[in-house]
Amino acid sequence: MMENTHEDIKKDISPDRLDYYAEIKKSGMAPLWENLHHMLTPEPKVKSLPHHWEYSSVRKLLLNSANLISAAEAERRVLMLENPGLPGNCSITESLFAGLQLIMPGEVAPAHRHSPAALRFIIEGSGAYTAVNGEKTYMEPGDFVITPSWCWHDHGHEGKEPVVWLDGLDIPLVRVIGSIFVEHYPEERFPEGPPPGDSLERYGNNMRPVGVLPDDLNSPIFSYPYERSRETLEKLRNSSDLDPYHGLKLEYIDPTTGGPAISTISTFLQLMPKGFKSEKYQSTESLIYSPVEGSGTVIIGQGDNEQVFNWKAQDIFVIPCWHPHRFEIKEEAIVFNFSDKIVQTKLGLWRERRGNA
Ligand SMILES: [Fe+2]
Repeated sequence: MMENTHEDIKKDISPDRLDYYAEIKKSGMAPLWENLHHMLTPEPKVKSLPHHWEYSSVRKLLLNSANLISAAEAERRVLMLENPGLPGNCSITESLFAGLQLIMPGEVAPAHRHSPAALRFIIEGSGAYTAVNGEKTYMEPGDFVITPSWCWHDHGHEGKEPVVWLDGLDIPLVRVIGSIFVEHYPEERFPEGPPPGDSLERYGNNMRPVGVLPDDLNSPIFSYPYERSRETLEKLRNSSDLDPYHGLKLEYIDPTTGGPAISTISTFLQLMPKGFKSEKYQSTESLIYSPVEGSGTVIIGQGDNEQVFNWKAQDIFVIPCWHPHRFEIKEEAIVFNFSDKIVQTKLGLWRERRGNA
């Protein structure tokens, strides 16, 4: 016998019950039994949709913003990548924010700090820097830079060409919890601190200064240069079996604890060789991808809901929670991606399904 769907049940509501629902509504109550079926679903159902932003299309629009507003006036000149399933929500997925930030030569984006944590993944240009607590990090394409929660940060540009990076923040997650705070530094720049690259030198060589204890939350390294990360992938590829679902996928970590580089956002760099075809995979994390090199296809969903995106370096695409997907690689690809996996893992909620198991 077929079970009644939620809609069927709704149609059968008697006038007496409707009157009752109207009465209890006045007291700030509602019947769970009318909502249970869509609150608790057999598998995750999210509003965010798979989507693909071609960088060649959005780049021109982003550069046009420089004629309309300065980085100083905007505070951050960012075009948000808003998920079409979450209009007006300033989110790329239910839990994450993403945007493309542009800084022009000579500009400064003034110092502030906020409770949401941020990552930067550099898309194009050089000569710009992010300063975290006064330590400057000069950014090159493919570099991964972190701004942990409540750290002062400002951006500047000492080069000659536009610089664009992908911003990723946990704003939607922090917003749901309600713990959003922001503070603006009284001056444009936070006072200069350690020399550029100091945190990487101090903590990025498998050694730790004696007497310094890890803070257990965020990496003390602010920048993970692409040169080093790429070299690691290149060296490991010859001695590693490819994972049939991910190829060769490495996670950025806090070297002092082995935990994630950012306490609320998981971040990865992934190599998939030419001709690689991954097996079908799905997980409860929502993933945002930013290919650095190469090109390929991602097939998201199945049956009538299948969507195919042909992507190349500098594009952005999103795979929402629990959407089965697989990759077909045209030219050897190195792809940055980030997700809310670490939050789900800490809460005991993360799940994956490999193939049809
Ligand atoms: Fe910020």
